[in-house]
Amino acid sequence: STHCISSAASDVYKRQLFILLVVLSCTSNQFILAQPTHTTTETRLNWWREARFGLFIHWGLYSVAAGQWNGKDIDGIGEWIQNFAKIPNSEYNKLTKDFTLLNYHPEEWVALAKQAGTKYIVFTAKHHDGFALYPSDASEFNIRMTPYQEDPLKQLITACRKAGIKVGIYYSHRQDWHEEDAAVMSNEYDGHYGKPKSEVKPNLDRYIRHKALPQIRELLTRYGNIDLIWYDTPFDLTLEQSQIFVNVIRELQPNCIINGRVGYNLGDYGPLGDNEMPCSKATTDLEMVATLNHTWGYKKNDNHWKGKKEILCSLIESASRNINYMVNIGPMADGTIPTPSVDILKFVGNWMAVNSESIYGTEGNPFNDNFPWGYVTRKENNLYLHLTQCPQNNCILLKGLHSDIRQAMILATQQPLTVANRQSVKTITIPDGLDYEKIPVIKLVCETPIKTDTRNLMNEGIISIPAASGTVKAGQKGKITFAEGGTTENFNPQTGSLLLECEIDIPGEYEVKLYTSRHWRKSFAEGTFVTLKTGDNILSNRLLKKDGELANVRQNSYPETWSTIGTVTFPKEGTQKIELSIDKIGTFTRLGHFGEDLQGESENNIRIMKIELIYKTQ
Ligand code: GLC
Repeated sequence: STHCISSAASDVYKRQLFILLVVLSCTSNQFILAQPTHTTTETRLNWWREARFGLFIHWGLYSVAAGQWNGKDIDGIGEWIQNFAKIPNSEYNKLTKDFTLLNYHPEEWVALAKQAGTKYIVFTAKHHDGFALYPSDASEFNIRMTPYQEDPLKQLITACRKAGIKVGIYYSHRQDWHEEDAAVMSNEYDGHYGKPKSEVKPNLDRYIRHKALPQIRELLTRYGNIDLIWYDTPFDLTLEQSQIFVNVIRELQPNCIINGRVGYNLGDYGPLGDNEMPCSKATTDLEMVATLNHTWGYKKNDNHWKGKKEILCSLIESASRNINYMVNIGPMADGTIPTPSVDILKFVGNWMAVNSESIYGTEGNPFNDNFPWGYVTRKENNLYLHLTQCPQNNCILLKGLHSDIRQAMILATQQPLTVANRQSVKTITIPDGLDYEKIPVIKLVCETPIKTDTRNLMNEGIISIPAASGTVKAGQKGKITFAEGGTTENFNPQTGSLLLECEIDIPGEYEVKLYTSRHWRKSFAEGTFVTLKTGDNILSNRLLKKDGELANVRQNSYPETWSTIGTVTFPKEGTQKIELSIDKIGTFTRLGHFGEDLQGESENNIRIMKIELIYKTQ
């Protein structure tokens, strides 16, 4: 019985470890143990940085299940259905007979990708269920078990090459529900393998040697040049194991890019979580991966479609954060792409057809500010202002630009606009009748290389102060750090305070609005209190209420919430210092992404995105 207790305890421990690992694998939070050599990464990333926009395709046996098992809708992302619905392999394998691909026309997929303006495709060659979408010799669990006797991967790659689209392959290197050796005991249904958990004896090294590595070798030797390998969920891989997955690519295809989720920051670019948008300009290479509804793999009853404009905004916002945007489609089992996905991609494509100059090869927003009217990108001496809404009084007041604007126009039509240059403050007059649903772009051509002021200035009555523009003051138990996405991390009552600055040009009263984001579908932490000090103002022990939330676009892991915590007064103009600290962290609940009941589990972190000071007109 001692044995029973300790194994139960170790199960709990493993479950917690697993959850921790999931969180780690999905964030930037990986321990930095090694870095790829700078110059080679630089050259490899050339095309990828220029591209800015990619298409993710999740397709596999889970597309047959389409989110349902035994006639019931199963919660959660569709490609996890085997896990969520606790489907034994003997049952799951039967899906192969309905994976018909009857309507699979890879040239049409690629044509859509191209029309949308994406420059690369990442296709799931093997997901967590372990099924290979190509005829693999390293595992019999592959496309040969279906009625389709050809190689869909090869066909897609051929179509991509013809169209000049770069080829990326998704390969789940750690998880494989088909292989007992890869079992992650804590999150898996023991019946996957047709025996009780106690009899499953995983051996990860053996799985890597016998399946994962041989399959990666197949993928890198059978199909010519592969431009990108996209690994996922490294979980408990050791540094040595992650390194094996890097080495095999460096050995066989040294020009192939490796994504961040290989583990331990060994990739050519950094990882972000699913649907995680950075809240300030990124300082490293990152890629935002986004779903169009709330699933990656096809689910017939998931109708949480994001809006066309929302998706276009996310592409533009990504470019303004200096990162790539990869949007996902989940085709049906026969190869049909769901109509709402096609419509969204076509909408984005129509915009790209006349505006892509403001996306491809651009760098992010050279200002610190988030502008109420939209997003900024930059290329050479040009600035591109993307208008998601009509600027106040049909006029953009652009502050802190230390180089004169020679020419301003609407990018799509070349219609010239009137500009006034007054030192670092520029005024651009916006004509009536623009369609803001289609996000018009203003191109500004500057006289000299662009130099900007990175102070946090007021725009349309709002001073937006990104958390990442601040510095930190350590507390008794360590200090605040910043995630790659620009939110604070490790911010709690023991870790000190966040120090920010802004410029006041109009003295008066300002409302203070705090933006937080939550990780991995965690609920809002009810009962969190913060203190903010600036000048003579002290807003002490203020409750973070949930005044509003942006959830759908950020599904399924990073909903943003805002709370107004009070009003401050600035009697004079000039630079203001702001200090923010956390008094108490409330209770989180989770939505049970892995089916666990995490009610009441707490965490020592409030993820601050930014503070807004909103001028109160008297
Ligand atoms: C996740 C999921 C996976 C999905 C991927 C996309 O980590 O485990 O199902 O393929 O993210 O980014």
